[in-house]
Amino acid sequence: MEIKVITGDIARVKADAIIVNFFTGQRKLDTDIAALDKALDGAISQLVRQGEIKGKLNEVTVVHSLGKLPADRVVVIGLGKKTELSFNKICGAVAETCRALRPKGITSIATIAHGAGINNLSPEVTAQAVAEGTLLGLYTFHKHITRKEDKPGEIKQLVIVSSNRVKPRLEKGSQKGRILAEATNLARDMVNEPANYMTPTRLAETATKLARSHGLKINILEHEQMAKMEMGGMLGVARGSRQPPKFIILHYKGNRDKEPGVALIGKGITFDSGGISIKPSQKMEEMKGDMAGGAAVLAAISAIARLKPKINVVAIIPATENLPDGNALKPGDVLTAMGGKTIEVISTDAEGRLVLADALGYARKLGTKHIVDAATLTGACIIALGKVCTGAFTNRQALVDKVIAAGNEAGELIWQMPMFDEYKEQNKSDVADIKNIGGRDAGAVTAAQFLAEFAEDTPWVHLDIAGTSMSDKEKAHQVKGATGVPTRTLVNLALTLAKR
Ligand code: BES
Ligand code: MN
Ligand code: ZN
Repeated sequence: MEIKVITGDIARVKADAIIVNFFTGQRKLDTDIAALDKALDGAISQLVRQGEIKGKLNEVTVVHSLGKLPADRVVVIGLGKKTELSFNKICGAVAETCRALRPKGITSIATIAHGAGINNLSPEVTAQAVAEGTLLGLYTFHKHITRKEDKPGEIKQLVIVSSNRVKPRLEKGSQKGRILAEATNLARDMVNEPANYMTPTRLAETATKLARSHGLKINILEHEQMAKMEMGGMLGVARGSRQPPKFIILHYKGNRDKEPGVALIGKGITFDSGGISIKPSQKMEEMKGDMAGGAAVLAAISAIARLKPKINVVAIIPATENLPDGNALKPGDVLTAMGGKTIEVISTDAEGRLVLADALGYARKLGTKHIVDAATLTGACIIALGKVCTGAFTNRQALVDKVIAAGNEAGELIWQMPMFDEYKEQNKSDVADIKNIGGRDAGAVTAAQFLAEFAEDTPWVHLDIAGTSMSDKEKAHQVKGATGVPTRTLVNLALTLAKR
């Protein structure tokens, strides 16, 4: 989609639809919208009087201009209470509006930078919200549908109309919004892709292509090299699969330090059947999305390469399938993770933490200053928090505070979970250093405590995205299927860490 910023008067712009806004409780029309209202012989003010336009958040009203304006339609979107306006609300309302307009055969839209100057929202941030909301809200995944009539229309052009004074700022903001949304949609594509397409090999190929187009250094460890590095977790999980495992490492260089400033680790299980501890068949198809963490870190580092913050970032994606087989890992088996710690495997379905143990070991060996991992790790996290927010776990409060702030900035909600030492007891094994499940109680916490053992003293945050990586409904900037969470959080975090 083309996104551009032009200067001028929105009432003179030619487009299939022009978008303006209205707040709840607003008495008078803003100057922009008043001019349009006048040209339309008072059609908008009449709808306000009659109560059809209330300004409720995500309310969409379409007014046809019948030749009275160069644009075919004026669309009034509700932004809720003015005092409660935020980046995320603008982003969501724009997304809902674009989705409402798409089936009408509308291909070009023009809009104002909604909300600039309100609640300390800068022109940059509002333009970012408009661009991000448009691209995120219009996302579809139709590549496997051959029936043409099932495809919705396509909005091809978004024009943001501005005054001369703020044009450069709107351009900067909309460009950032585009980069963040495109990265998120890239992650969504990878997660939505069926597991027969998105194998570890294909994930590695996708990473290679991204590295090439963004100038990132890439290194993919094959089975043999993983064996040399004694990555027992990776090799253990991969034993049940006919697909070769891939341990994918990408480097972004943003300053002259030798070490990475932050390592982004993403669980890359391209399909999780549970292995020998096989899952029930109900909803097992959703386990094609068990590489959502890996997709997000890959997408995030590609956006980071475009935004160029002054920080070194490494993305690490341990990728394999988890399947049952005559050669598969068995309950009771003992594995040695990279770094030498031994793990008793009680459930082969707790495979994420096994591959992440090696990834954490690898990140530590690189001497990275911070680690953030993202993983669809536990059903228990969905029980605890639902699909509303991601669970965060840490060994360093200052770092998790930054991660949560980076999430808020993106509208990707994160809630911190406890890490009391008392929980560690549940992971004690009689035959190895640690066991890979800690029982039913506090399953999300004991999983995090397992990872903490391998993060050791490196400042680390674990994000459990089991509930937030997939959406079962279309709402605001989310559509059904993969959400791309926490791509934008990770990008924002890298930008924050680069500033110090
Ligand atoms: N990938 C799953 C977690 C998951 C469940 C993600 C539902 C998304 C939706 C993970 O590998 C898993 O199977 N976890 C087990 C852990 C248990 C065996 C301790 C779980 O949550 O049941
Ligand atoms: Mn599992
Ligand atoms: Zn899994």
